[in-house]
Amino acid sequence: MSYENITVETNASGNDGVTLITLNRPQALNALNSEVLGELITAFAEYQADASQRCAVLTGSGEKAFAAGADIKEMSEKAAADFYLEDFFSPWTSEIVRKTRKPWIAAVNGFALGGGCELAMMADFIIASENAKFGQPEINLGVAPGMGGSQRLTKAIGKSKAMEMCLTGRMMGAEEAERSNLVARVVPHGSLLEETLKTAATIASKPPMAAIANKEMVNAAFETSLEQGLIIERRIFQILTASEDKHEGMAAFIEKREGKWKGR
Ligand code: CAA
Repeated sequence: MSYENITVETNASGNDGVTLITLNRPQALNALNSEVLGELITAFAEYQADASQRCAVLTGSGEKAFAAGADIKEMSEKAAADFYLEDFFSPWTSEIVRKTRKPWIAAVNGFALGGGCELAMMADFIIASENAKFGQPEINLGVAPGMGGSQRLTKAIGKSKAMEMCLTGRMMGAEEAERSNLVARVVPHGSLLEETLKTAATIASKPPMAAIANKEMVNAAFETSLEQGLIIERRIFQILTASEDKHEGMAAFIEKREGKWKGR
């Protein structure tokens, strides 16, 4: 598949099972328009379908931005009826988040604003460069977050800070984002990609079915009660005990050797 608004590289750092997806509209600070969405849906579907790829990294091209939001120029031309009838923004969650069961990381290299911040929060976790800036400035445009910001940001950093960010539109720097649990780790700007690819390669080296299962369990914590979440966790654990990789993993530990994963 050839892309115009993103680039996709499989086995990005050697034969390591890591797919690197890069938003590639640096002239518009990687703003997210319908073409970008369509290409990302295809790229994530290809990643999900390719058994040789076991972790993905999403980043932005250029020095300045991961993504500076949904494309304001595209949105300015639409009527309310268009947004409603198209269920605008719906595919970000239904086609990318829900259908990508394998792990992926957002490597945030600069501005992650509005839809850019929301896209980063769709990832399983975020690694940020020192230059990263997060924000939900939609209020300045007379609107509000539409790709999950009011929900995912609040779950990540709590009501008080999320409310302040959405009501003032202010940007949060990388250090504050790490302190607030929005990002897993902050790294020097120049080593963002190298560090994130290394982390992705670590995940890609793990038993792949167990990786999907771990992701599913942690996500369940956001969508269910504790009681239901504990049941989901136990059931998934019990299913994993029937996998070939469970037998291999435990045998490898006892025999003091590396496991060789079948992914089932
Ligand atoms: N949509 C479309 N184009 C955008 C854009 C966006 N979200 N953000 C930046 N651009 C474009 C600019 O229009 C400009 O293009 P031109 O050269 O053709 O004029 C180019 O990218 C460079 O931007 P700036 O000149 O503004 O760069 P800067 O360094 O002076 O400022 C910035 C950087 C502070 C990030 C500024 O660009 C900005 O405020 N961008 C908009 C941020 C924003 O409001 N995002 C939320 C969008 S709404 C949304 O996302 C809804 C939702 O919930 C999903």
